[in-house]
Amino acid sequence: MIRGTFLISLLMCGYSLPAGREEKSALFEVPEIIISNGYQAERHHVITPDGYILEMHRIPFGRHQTTSEVRRPAVFLMHGLLSASNSYIALGPEYSISYNLADAGFDVWMGNARGNRLSRRHTTLDPDVDKSEFFNFSWEEIGMIDVAAMIDYVLEFTGEEKLHYVGHSQGGTSFLVLASMRPEYNEKLSSVNLLAGVGYMNHFPNKNLGATALLTDVIYVAALAVGFVEVYPPDFDRSLPWGKTAGTDRCTGNLETQYMCDLIGVRHLVRENESVSGTSDFLDIFEGHDIGGAALKQIAHYGQNIRDKAFRRWNYGLIQNLRIYGKVAPPAYDLSLITANVTMHYTVNDILLDERDVLAMAADMPNTVVRKVARDTFLHEDFVLAKDVKELVTDFMIESMLQIEHM
Ligand SMILES: *[C@@H]1O[C@H](CO)[C@@H](O)[C@H](O)[C@H]1NC(C)=O
Ligand SMILES: *[C@@H]1O[C@H](CO)[C@@H](O)[C@H](O)[C@H]1NC(C)=O
Repeated sequence: MIRGTFLISLLMCGYSLPAGREEKSALFEVPEIIISNGYQAERHHVITPDGYILEMHRIPFGRHQTTSEVRRPAVFLMHGLLSASNSYIALGPEYSISYNLADAGFDVWMGNARGNRLSRRHTTLDPDVDKSEFFNFSWEEIGMIDVAAMIDYVLEFTGEEKLHYVGHSQGGTSFLVLASMRPEYNEKLSSVNLLAGVGYMNHFPNKNLGATALLTDVIYVAALAVGFVEVYPPDFDRSLPWGKTAGTDRCTGNLETQYMCDLIGVRHLVRENESVSGTSDFLDIFEGHDIGGAALKQIAHYGQNIRDKAFRRWNYGLIQNLRIYGKVAPPAYDLSLITANVTMHYTVNDILLDERDVLAMAADMPNTVVRKVARDTFLHEDFVLAKDVKELVTDFMIESMLQIEHM
């Protein structure tokens, strides 16, 4: 069963830290890092209807600007699985998407999903005491509730009617969920750019992972039984058995310890096999940054979809599905309801998203175009970790937003 954690580790989209790092997380200093890079920064907090307190970060102006006479259209950026707002500034002022957008004249807002370390707060639940309840969510809730609440907050705060949406990986998944389940949100988006936005899973690229996904439900139930509902909890860095490389004798012990060791051990294998051609300073980028954390249910939900070759709602099992959805199988997200103008950027070297699935999604969504990244070795995580994302993706994306705004 422990082998099943292989699945989880591969779905983490490449943001974890080198093992053994124990200093305090820079994640909590995102606005301070932004300021040290020559920009202004703000922290905002948004409370969702179900009580989660989400932290947002804003870059209101371009570099060395403190005020602006002209209108600055709002853009909202949503991070990937286990990540946080820091992913959009990790490449520094020259190459990060958020800074590039601010310098191009946009009012930049970065979200943080419920349960990541910056949004690990609730009006009534304590994430450490009530963890089974607090972490009882997937990316469906992140899309339908968190992203919706943050979009509304930005529109209200700025007085804009619409904003531009950018989502990486799970940030794309949460858009697809929101815009199909609550289609009225399409009207609030002047453009959408998905960077390896994960949805359809008919051709999930990795065969080993596909095989392991068969164990999703077993793993999830076993994990719940030992109270393991949160991946990378805040004390992760300091907890010795998991803070070091797997395969050492530190990794013996209870199920939870083994689970985390296995998870990290496999990640290291994956990293060694990855081509990091475009990201020679791949590991350096993580210095001063940190992993966001997530609910295990987010990963299990991806696992269900990989197993079922589908993009659909949480599978409770036959009886519960009947009660909750009125059907034995969970309903699929209906992408034909997504009317926003969407550009799906993808790469052929993505171990988590197949080109055929991207094309199939675009075919089902009425106003969607695809754009293949012009470097075949570009990786899933390179959208936030490779410097050439600017010339390969960001410049194009910003140009199209400027056109829409007549700027
Ligand atoms: C999690 O939420 C589901 C409904 O979405 C509910 O059936 C279940 O009891 C909840 N579990 C916990 C531990 O709160
Ligand atoms: C999508 O783009 C087209 C052409 O640029 C434009 O006419 C249309 O209003 C846009 N739709 C939305 C929902 O913004």
